[in-house]
Amino acid sequence: MVHDLIDQLYQTHHLTHAQWVTVLTDYTPDDQAYATQLAHALTIAKFGKKIFFRGIVEYTNYCRNDCLYCGIRHSNHQVKRYRLSKAEILACCEDGYQNGFRTFVLQGGEDPYYTTEIFEEIIATIHQRYPDCAITLSIGESTKAAYQRFFDAGADRFLLRHETASPALYRRWHPAYQPFEHRMQCLKELKAIGYQTGCGFMVGAPFQTIADLATDMVFTTEFQPEMIGIGPFIPHSQTPFKAYSAGNEQLTLFILSLCRILLPDVLLPATTALGTVQGNGRQLGVLAGCNVVMPNLSPLRFRKQYLLYDNKAGINDDAATGIQKLSEQMQTIGYQVVRSRGDFQPRKKEY
Ligand code: 5AD
Repeated sequence: MVHDLIDQLYQTHHLTHAQWVTVLTDYTPDDQAYATQLAHALTIAKFGKKIFFRGIVEYTNYCRNDCLYCGIRHSNHQVKRYRLSKAEILACCEDGYQNGFRTFVLQGGEDPYYTTEIFEEIIATIHQRYPDCAITLSIGESTKAAYQRFFDAGADRFLLRHETASPALYRRWHPAYQPFEHRMQCLKELKAIGYQTGCGFMVGAPFQTIADLATDMVFTTEFQPEMIGIGPFIPHSQTPFKAYSAGNEQLTLFILSLCRILLPDVLLPATTALGTVQGNGRQLGVLAGCNVVMPNLSPLRFRKQYLLYDNKAGINDDAATGIQKLSEQMQTIGYQVVRSRGDFQPRKKEY
């Protein structure tokens, strides 16, 4: 039954909500092995045994938002806050560039210190200094006008996980001043502007049901993202969700494979969270259909202050060590990390 639905997904790139619920509820280890194999074959057909790597610069841990699951939420007064100057951000990029990175991901909490003007200037400078590099933003919700200015200044891609496509669950995870509708609106605006856009969600977060995950798959199908960020929920000890257990690694891997079968061209990172719940999680992710890894370029002295969840992997590795460890991990499974920008490239739509 699930096997047939996986075949249907492969052929039509679409399942109904009810079918997604069946797949995610009834799958056996054999079904998962089948999806893994299919996803893996599709990934190799499209990308070869090559992994794109992106350097993340966590430039601020100040955040005006108060997401109940996140370690840098506004109400967590135990976090020591920091923000990087333009010069410090540029130094991270330079370090990354020297180590072969050709995509920089600027990620931060929603920090009003970086006004549209300040951030636009930072993007423009990176763009001028590294014209052969892609710039990805992971900076949360903003206005369409600001997104447009960042795009015009040289940003290429934007990651904004939708977190959950179920409005009721979204409201349980976020305070009222973070409306679900605005996040969805942002995603649509980003795509309309022309960003390669990434949505995504956590697996196994508190109160999330299989029906919610099915809703995420339906939303992902409708949205047709160029990138998808998915990782297991991991509790952070200074958040209201501290007592909940982490998301299931196998279910996360299964969902990653299903995403690859759904959208064969999509850029799909094996996330740090996946590497945190299990040491070889990122390798398993690649074998399940992922084709991107995102090592950290942030200054080592701030790493422990940018913890969205406990026990985050890689917080002691500088850019050179991070990329070296990753290259070795990938080599052991027969993959090679590659230096290209790795933009989204759609195939001719024969489906
Ligand atoms: N566990 C796993 N992922 C988390 N994120 C935030 N908090 C956690 C957590 N406790 C994810 C969110 C966010 C991304 C940057 O990190 O999905 O969009």
